[in-house]
Amino acid sequence: MSKLRFDVVSLFPEAFKNFFNHGPIKKAFEEKIASIHIHNPRDYAIDNYRKVDDEPYGGGAGMVLKPEPYFSVFDQIPKFNKKRVLLMTPQGSKMSQSDFCRWSKEDQLILICGSYEGFDERIRSLADEEISIGDFVLTGGEIPAITLINGVVRLLPGTLGSSESLKEESHNDFLLEHPQYTRPSNFRGLKVPNVLLNGNHKLIKEWRQKQREVRTRSRRPDLYELWKLNQTNLEK
Ligand SMILES: C[S@@+](CC[C@H](N)C(=O)[O-])C[C@H]1O[C@@H](n2cnc3c(N)ncnc32)[C@H](O)[C@@H]1O
Repeated sequence: MSKLRFDVVSLFPEAFKNFFNHGPIKKAFEEKIASIHIHNPRDYAIDNYRKVDDEPYGGGAGMVLKPEPYFSVFDQIPKFNKKRVLLMTPQGSKMSQSDFCRWSKEDQLILICGSYEGFDERIRSLADEEISIGDFVLTGGEIPAITLINGVVRLLPGTLGSSESLKEESHNDFLLEHPQYTRPSNFRGLKVPNVLLNGNHKLIKEWRQKQREVRTRSRRPDLYELWKLNQTNLEK
């Protein structure tokens, strides 16, 4: 059995085809670190036209997703004890790395993707959490779901070659990652800082930490303030 099972409810299952067939994510699915099952609400529509949407009560633009196909498709998904049901919506709370970390410890994540004008309000009652990927509106929940799956799967033990690479990367502990360089040491006059070339690991560590702080302070003052607050609490 895979360690984390994703069940995705989507009217456009083909949208998921090309996102998990390369790199570490492909390997994670092949090695059963994670598995994915896609369920189409249209297969559970009750009328002859397989209708999944209808006009909004009270009038207005666009079509609203009907509750029956979403509840029916949801009912037939096998449920694990340790699971979260996440509904993709621009009205949700903005997801972050700490959410990925939290969700990576579940046995099952059920993701509900919307389309058109969005969900009949009653469909929201299926979810434990309503999740947004940012303050903008896309045509459907598939790209948000793919983003979420990618971010969670890369945290699962065994997906990446070395778990070390997760430790100092951006958004792990408020600070952004330090600058990275590889060969050549001088490229078109752009030189790699000397400290990285001298093999003194203590100095390299100090330089990297300083760079993380300087970089975060200038690019993301909001994260820098959180980091400082966290440092103060750790010192208490
Ligand atoms: C056009 S949107 C509907 C937006 C809805 N009328 C509203 O104002 O909240 C269609 C679907 O795309 C998905 N979606 C769009 N933007 C999103 C975002 N920023 N985060 C997560 N899901 C999003 C949701 O599943 C949503 O139901």
